[in-house]
Amino acid sequence: MKKFLIINGPNLNMLGIREPDIYGTLTLEQMNSNILEATADLPVSLEFFQTNHEGSIIDELQAAYFADMDGIVLNPAAFTHYSYAIRDAIAATDMPVVEVHLSDISERESFRHVSVTEDVCLAQIKGKGWQGYVEAVKLLNEHLDQQRRQGSRN
Ligand code: DQA
Repeated sequence: MKKFLIINGPNLNMLGIREPDIYGTLTLEQMNSNILEATADLPVSLEFFQTNHEGSIIDELQAAYFADMDGIVLNPAAFTHYSYAIRDAIAATDMPVVEVHLSDISERESFRHVSVTEDVCLAQIKGKGWQGYVEAVKLLNEHLDQQRRQGSRN
């Protein structure tokens, strides 16, 4: 069983209330249960974490490494666009991280077009709502299977 952690950053605890035309009407809890249901047939166990604080995302990434988590799905929310500290935390370990955004950040305000975290992540998935997280879990699962077949850690 591979262990993955899904981290959601600031204001994503407000899903359901927050700009529903952009982020949809599901709450974070409903989204997480949809993700669990949609990945139930995969050999993965999922944990969920949400915080509004930059440092807590970094603490959680480091804790995940020391807890031998196999991969991370991360929606850094607005930190995506300017947090070099989160970027450094991702780059600090060899844990695979997939960046997810509910909305298509490339179609929104220009400040959202930049992701300072994207190029230290395995992939970026955007604009697919909660299904983007499912896609990220599948991608991590396949990536790790492929790595194991190749007998390498890279
Ligand atoms: C977001 C996009 C970010 O630009 C924004 O700050 C968020 C959510 C998304 O999931 O679409 O909070 O990461």
